[in-house]
Amino acid sequence: MTISPAAPAGTAPEPLPVQPPSGCPFDPPAAFGTLRTERPISKISLPDGSWTWLATRYSDIRAILGDLRFSSDTTLHGYPLSGMTGGGNTENRGFIRMDPPEHTRLRRMVTREFMVKRVEALRPEIQRLTDELCDAMERRTGEDVDLIEALALPVPSLVISLLLGVPYDDHDVFQRLTGTLLSRTVPDDEREAARVELRDYLDQLVTAKEAAPGDDILGRLITEQQRTGEISHDDVAAFAALLLIAGHETTANMIGLSALTLMLDPGSAERLRQEPGLIRGAVEELLRFHSIIRNGPRRVATADIEIDGHLIRAGEGVVTAVPSANRDESVFADADRLDVCRPNAQHHVAFGYGIHQCLGQALARVELQVVIGTLLRRFPALRPAVPVEEIPFRTDMAIYGCHALPVTW
Ligand code: HEM
Repeated sequence: MTISPAAPAGTAPEPLPVQPPSGCPFDPPAAFGTLRTERPISKISLPDGSWTWLATRYSDIRAILGDLRFSSDTTLHGYPLSGMTGGGNTENRGFIRMDPPEHTRLRRMVTREFMVKRVEALRPEIQRLTDELCDAMERRTGEDVDLIEALALPVPSLVISLLLGVPYDDHDVFQRLTGTLLSRTVPDDEREAARVELRDYLDQLVTAKEAAPGDDILGRLITEQQRTGEISHDDVAAFAALLLIAGHETTANMIGLSALTLMLDPGSAERLRQEPGLIRGAVEELLRFHSIIRNGPRRVATADIEIDGHLIRAGEGVVTAVPSANRDESVFADADRLDVCRPNAQHHVAFGYGIHQCLGQALARVELQVVIGTLLRRFPALRPAVPVEEIPFRTDMAIYGCHALPVTW
């Protein structure tokens, strides 16, 4: 196979395609479709003026994410930084930004907490929380209700707070700080201030838990790992930051987008109401269709690596466009259509691929199945309270979704 440069010499790389302000709000940027067929590994420019590779095909993205020579270490020279990845900040990175063997060692400490069996045991509690929030929504019949505030954000926030042992009463603090950290548009100094505030908050929380560790994830990390000298106080705080941030914003946005899609597709909604057994497959399809991690995951090559005939040199970065992989026609027929009965939807890469594949995926699945199933059952007349064009989509955030979703029924 010949090694070819991706862009003709002298051609300035295009900026990373982002969600267009117009067009179907659920579709990834149209440019991805063209890139997949014409330049599946292409050069793009980043806001800081540097360039990086952009991979848009399903097979190339799996090859990159499955190859340990592509590093997740954000401190390495050439890593394509975004606001979300937190600059070259070395402090409290969390294992999502580490490579083996440290990544393996730390991830193993919490793997069992998120295993399917463990998470399935939480289903009744997740159902109970969802029912309570739906009861509160029902009491507001006749009003316009923001579905994000009333249901989509509280369910995953409550669940992850409970699992970690973080007081839910502090949700205003961690939701506000997460919002700032994941924004692509806030100035760097504001994002840095949010990072420091979250670090201080979690630092105090871990100190309090060291004195009285509870029967929760942070408590177990303290008694089983910190007290035996495997990890430090700061490591426990880093676990807390990663799990707290990863554990609520993502699922909340998936719930919001999924609910809206089904409101706009009454045929699919009715099918799921008639055959609730289809909900598991439908959630996989919604994950594929929406791919809320819009501009990642990202990696940096630690060796010269050939991908699909292109040479990516050591020290060069790669953005793998998961939304593009999940709309790749060579894997998913009629990929731009939502098909709640799609036979291979579960092959999506919305949770990533390889050793960093989402640790919380079983939890996210149960939360989505419960919340979407309950909404369909209890609010069959649910509809947007404003025209779709007026819904504030999160085009400014690293995780796509809606800032607010006014609904009525
Ligand atoms: C729909 C919801 C979610 C989506 C779409 C999602 C997506 C992802 C993706 C794409 C990655 C891979 C990042 C990479 O390769 O660099 C990831 C990693 C991760 N996710 Fe999720 N996630 C979701 C929910 C959750 C939840 C509920 C948790 C709960 C704690 C969680 C915890 C994590 C952690 C800890 C990692 C890092 C894994 C590692 O580096 O080994 N996620 N997620």
